[in-house]
Amino acid sequence: MAKDESAQRMEKIVSLCKRRGFIFQSSEIYGGINGFWDYGPLGVELKRNLKDFWWKRNVRERDDMVGMDGAIIMNRAVWKASGHEETFSDPMSDCRVCNTRHRADQLPERDGKPYCPHCGAANMTEPRAFNLMLKSYAGPVENDDNLVYLRPETAQAMFVQFRNILDTSRQKLPFGIAQIGKAFRNEINPRNYIFRSREFEQMEIEYFCRPEDGLKLTDYWLEERLRFYEDIGIPRSKIRINDIPDGDRAFYSKKTYDLEYEFPFGVSELEGVAYRTDYDLSKHIEHSGKPLDYYDEVTKERFVPHVVEPSAGADRTALALLCEAFDEETVTDDKGKSEIRTVMRFHPRMAPIKCGVFPLLKNKPALVEAARSIIASLRADMNVFYDESGAIGRRYRRQDEAGTPFCVTVDFDTVGENGPEKAGTVTLRHRDSMLQERVAITDLKALLLEKIR
Ligand code: GAP
Repeated sequence: MAKDESAQRMEKIVSLCKRRGFIFQSSEIYGGINGFWDYGPLGVELKRNLKDFWWKRNVRERDDMVGMDGAIIMNRAVWKASGHEETFSDPMSDCRVCNTRHRADQLPERDGKPYCPHCGAANMTEPRAFNLMLKSYAGPVENDDNLVYLRPETAQAMFVQFRNILDTSRQKLPFGIAQIGKAFRNEINPRNYIFRSREFEQMEIEYFCRPEDGLKLTDYWLEERLRFYEDIGIPRSKIRINDIPDGDRAFYSKKTYDLEYEFPFGVSELEGVAYRTDYDLSKHIEHSGKPLDYYDEVTKERFVPHVVEPSAGADRTALALLCEAFDEETVTDDKGKSEIRTVMRFHPRMAPIKCGVFPLLKNKPALVEAARSIIASLRADMNVFYDESGAIGRRYRRQDEAGTPFCVTVDFDTVGENGPEKAGTVTLRHRDSMLQERVAITDLKALLLEKIR
């Protein structure tokens, strides 16, 4: 896709997200705040579907995985041990002319010299390390003793609770701990919409294993994660696997795959699958003095488990779902009139609303009652939406933009006003093909559940 076209596509996606209530700027009425976003009614359902499916696939459907939900604020000692306090930084550089601050490794260059992307002056300070952890104070006094960090990743809670979880869950190696939760990074340049934010959510797994199994489990998790993306509607062909070469990986990692998605603004990281060896547990053993090792009852060996970490961003994946779903097509009606149909082609599993239900006319109580009764029968199993205003075609278009895969229209046939033949049936309209079929109300729930689960 040409650069202009990609930029235009991204603009259209951002505009649709605002117009339809997927994503809003945080604190918008006060001018917003850079790097923070709010999810609206449709966005929150999309993200919830994503997180629920991730949890189901990685925790509920497996015997070798357990979940946890750790606190955002942990003892500062955790971040000293993990190395975050000392080294979790990006290089920053200030423009001496307009005083804006930028990531030094992302500056554009002119004649081999970096320049300010804000004012264009080639007068930047030397790069300095800028720690990305957001700080606060726990307790009544704002001093160094009370300094705390908002966690920059969920991972560390899974390492420091390793012993408790091992003892209480009675898991044997290999097994994993999974967690979904907020993380915070004081990014120098939040950018590309929700792609790089200062507050975001991670979906992380720490999968503990014997040292000799680490490499092959890294490949296993890569495959599992690709299967996951495929099952939420992001095909393998859209994901680039970047096998990070020696020298570019963290020094303790023996293998890292970055899974990158073709966003309109470029191919960028969605998730990392990293074989982190025994680095994290060993660091916490060293700093806490606590036994975070493992006793293998079969081999009678005691050792520090190794870990494979598939670490995904919920917001980045939500953005990938939005980008993948967005489509515009020209449609022509019976009278030969053409218009652009904007449609979000979410996988039905991810769609915020699964089914729209419409009475053909709002002033016919029998139709309204039948539509309401269908809503009531579906509501416990899926998110449904009742709409009685405007022409049916316009109601379909509104649901196309929301990405609703199915719409049901209740008409005079449904309520038996045109004879008994079609009584108890409705029109089921499919978002992607726009095909309509007649189905029995009694079959509706099973038919929809089969598609959305
Ligand atoms: N525990 C490993 C870890 O945190 P990471 O590559 O720094 O690794 C993992 O982060 C994932 O978290 C990324 O692949 C991305 O999806 C998400 N992520 C990281 N920083 C982010 C940010 N500033 N905004 C949104 N998502 C972010």
